[in-house]
Amino acid sequence: MRRGFFITFEGGEGAGKSIQVEILASHLFEEGYDVVVTREPGGTRIGEQIRAITHNTENVDLNPVAEAYLMSAARAQHVAQVIEPSLESGKVVLSDRFVDSSISYQGYGRKLGPDLIKNLNALAVNGAAPDLTILLSVTPEVSMKRRNKSKKAKDRLDLQQHDFYSRVYEGYKVLAKKEPNRFIVVDAGKSIEKVATEVWDVTQRALNEYYGKIKKK
Ligand code: TMP
Repeated sequence: MRRGFFITFEGGEGAGKSIQVEILASHLFEEGYDVVVTREPGGTRIGEQIRAITHNTENVDLNPVAEAYLMSAARAQHVAQVIEPSLESGKVVLSDRFVDSSISYQGYGRKLGPDLIKNLNALAVNGAAPDLTILLSVTPEVSMKRRNKSKKAKDRLDLQQHDFYSRVYEGYKVLAKKEPNRFIVVDAGKSIEKVATEVWDVTQRALNEYYGKIKKK
């Protein structure tokens, strides 16, 4: 059986990732793909426990290095329990965030540096790498407006200083520029429908190229 296809969504707060993941997953289901939808930090029982720590607003004193290790620890569990087995069995894996989040948030946002974060995650990802990364890009200003408007309860990572989000935004831009074949940058300032159409177009193209237009199941 052919190895599955690994798609990740990335972007700052308020980029609309969750809704786009949901819409893309439903398109893929309709097209007959065997899809696994997952997220980081989380995606496993243990990973969700780690998420509870990283998102808890009481943990304002969480050390940046400890934060980086927690994200990486959740990822190790996620790769071993969900991502690798799903890809092995030929599924399309759709993950709301992966290692690029750590590089942007901990590497650039917390200023730990992209290389250090990459090295720290090497063991966790164990060779797993996305085939396609959709970066939903919104400026930190739009992102802040959307966050303030949102009724969703704010977590610890929603409560950072503005310059933190600016560094994350710039970090993503650097990553996308470095790997233009893997990264597709979508202007997420547009309407949900327009973004969803663009996401579906690029995904179909990538899947057709990978599977050579044969039926997936
Ligand atoms: P989200 O599910 O709303 O995107 O929340 C995840 C938050 O965790 C978001 O603020 C980004 C942050 N994060 C990191 O800082 N590093 C990571 O490696 C991951 C996966 C997420």
